[in-house]
Parts: sequence; C-alpha cells; structure tokens
Amino acid sequence: MIPIKTEAELAKMLEAGQLTARILHHIGQMAAPGISTWELDQEAERLCLAAGARSAFKGYHGYPYAVCCSVNQQVVHGFPVKSPLEDGDIVSLDFGVVLDGFYGDTAITVPVGRISPEALNLVTVTRDSLAAGINQVKAGAYLGDIGAAVQEVAEKAGYSVVRQFVGHGIGKAMHEEPSVPNFGIRGHGPKLQAGMVLAIEPMINMGRSEVKILEDGWTAVTIDGKLSAHFEHTVAVTAAGYNILTLPPIQ
Ligand code: MF3
Ligand code: CO
Ligand code: CO
Repeated sequence: MIPIKTEAELAKMLEAGQLTARILHHIGQMAAPGISTWELDQEAERLCLAAGARSAFKGYHGYPYAVCCSVNQQVVHGFPVKSPLEDGDIVSLDFGVVLDGFYGDTAITVPVGRISPEALNLVTVTRDSLAAGINQVKAGAYLGDIGAAVQEVAEKAGYSVVRQFVGHGIGKAMHEEPSVPNFGIRGHGPKLQAGMVLAIEPMINMGRSEVKILEDGWTAVTIDGKLSAHFEHTVAVTAAGYNILTLPPIQ
C-alpha cells in the first residue's frame, strides 16, 4: 500500500522538507576548492540538531554520517572525507532530516570551482531530468510517467540512467512504498493519488549505467569510472499537480 498523507501530515512534511532544503542549500554554497566534505557534513549535522531535528541518514542501516558526499565517479552514498575538494570536481550532496516524526530527503550536484563543459552539461541534464520527472506528477498520472520522462531527457543527451538505485515514497519513514525508478513506460505502474509523497532522484551517468559498491559497503561508483550526477526532491502529489516540499530558499 502506498501511504496517503493527511493535510496535517503534509504540513509537517513541508516543515521537514524546508529544513532539509535550507541546510543542503547552505552546504552546497560552501562547497569550493579547499573545503572538505567532512566539514560540509559537520556543518549540516550541527544545523540539523540546532533546529531540533535529527539526521535521517546517520545510523540508517549503520550509515555513519549525516550527508552522503559523492565526488565525480561516485554515484551515491559516498562518505564525507577530510581531503579537500579540488577545482574541477563535481560533488553530489544528499541530505535528509527527521523533524517531528517526518522525513525530508533532497540532493544536489554542485560544481567545485571551474568545471569542464562536459561535466557542467551532465549536471544540467540531470537537474533537467528531475524537473521533467516532477512535471509528470499529478493525481491520475502513472508512476511510469515519471521514470519515462526522466529517462527520455537523460538518454536524449547521450547519458545513461542508473537502475540499481531508485527513488521512493517518503513520510514517517525515509523509504516507503512505492519504488520510483528513473526509467519506465508511460501509463504503466500505480496511479498517483493526491496525498502521496515521492522522493524523485535521478542518478545519471556520463558513460555506462552500471555501478559497483566499494569495500566500505556503501560508496557506489560508476563501473567505467566516468562521472555521475544526482538530484533529488521530496514531492507531494496534488489534484492540480505537485508541491515540491524541498525547494531551497529564494536566492
Ligand atoms: N538519501 C538516500 C536516498 O535518497 C538514502 C541514503 S541511505 C543512507 O534515498 F544510509 F545513507 F542514509
Ligand atoms: Co536522498
Ligand atoms: Co531518497
């Protein structure tokens, strides 16, 4: 069963989502050559606790940090490290909180200093693919519409969609039903209903779609060593369309 949230629950999810987005936006702006992902993780956790929330990730199946920091060929679930980010890197930052029992989950990929036009295009297309997926969301649409839209944007640009990880329902748990693949067929899968909340999160690779997990048991990297990017929003389904619960503050 896919949980349907009440208005009161959606209001709490918006609070959680906005806090998540504000902190992610903040550490995203800190990312620069010379700063470490370790420092970004520390800052995110500090702000999260200061706001009366806790990290959604720390302790989740034993994950040891508040933020997933995945650099270059790392796809998702990279550990924060003390070595500094370097000019030309791209870093995917994925962050989640639990506030008053409800989860928020959002991710961005950030350029570090000056990056290559190729890397910038991957980041732009991945962001666009998330927007295309979100644009499908509306009561009465099908789950497959989301994946199909994401996949079309990524593949038209010559990139591949990661299949080993998918998006998910989110609410009183970080991962609820349904799975939200970033590939699919229009008109297939469950029908979306107002009050469902989905974390839509395309992971797009410059080369092959396959990933492998490193010895640490967490870090997913591209099998061919090429770049990967990741964006994620927590999105509520409404009768008219959607409500993005993790929009960053106006810049
Ligand atoms: N935030 C990830 C997702 O988008 C899950 C992170 S798993 C964790 O679903 F263990 F790192 F928390
Ligand atoms: Co996430
Ligand atoms: Co997620």
